[in-house]
Amino acid sequence: MKYTKIKQIAKGWSSYIWLVKNKKGEEFVLKEVREKSPRKDLANREGKMLLLANSVGVGPKVKEINFEKNFVVMEYIKGEKFFDFILSKRFEGEITQTQIYELIKELFRQLYLLDTINLSHNQLQIGKNILVKQIFDKEKKVIKYYPVIIDFEKATIKEKNCTKNLGQLFAMCFYNPNGIIAKRIREKLNLTI
Ligand SMILES: Nc1ncnc2c1ncn2[C@@H]1O[C@H](COP(=O)(O)OP(=O)(O)O)[C@@H](O)[C@H]1O
Ligand SMILES: [Mg+2]
Repeated sequence: MKYTKIKQIAKGWSSYIWLVKNKKGEEFVLKEVREKSPRKDLANREGKMLLLANSVGVGPKVKEINFEKNFVVMEYIKGEKFFDFILSKRFEGEITQTQIYELIKELFRQLYLLDTINLSHNQLQIGKNILVKQIFDKEKKVIKYYPVIIDFEKATIKEKNCTKNLGQLFAMCFYNPNGIIAKRIREKLNLTI
């Protein structure tokens, strides 16, 4: 399949993320390795791990893995990073406690699904590898926020029950004593630990 690059979305230390479109005009995200990066097996690692995650309904859907050119094409998720979402003014204001509970509950559900296949994401602790999508009703009012876990580049398959998934999410959302995300979520939900 041929893709046209529309714009660069992000530049990581080892990869470039592009918004692209195919011949039908459908938008996707293309993640490719940076020329200078020593880590040349992106398609192999990220592509395979993302496919496994997709097998339990988690992560942006894989469209294509190109091993030769070393890139992965996946579903484009229109959303903001969990970290930015929690730090936003909206989070303090109009976003309800129920919406936060539902979002976190869904995240735990997805991580439980990854646990069923022993897939440890390994990079969930700072909230930058989770995108938050807005779900609208007919009047275009936001009714809920839905999380999509991205960036499976460092994911690994662990022994049974040894993934870091739930632990990392618990720490980030609730327990981390110095974490800004945990602090804000505890305040929003009136939790003390
Ligand atoms: N499927 C996607 N849909 C929308 N944006 C994405 C998608 N994948 C990555 N991004 C954007 O690109 C950024 C970097 O992607 P990521 O996979 O985390 O690579 P890195 O290894 O550079 O951290 C993300 O924080 C997000 O903003
Ligand atoms: Mg990342």
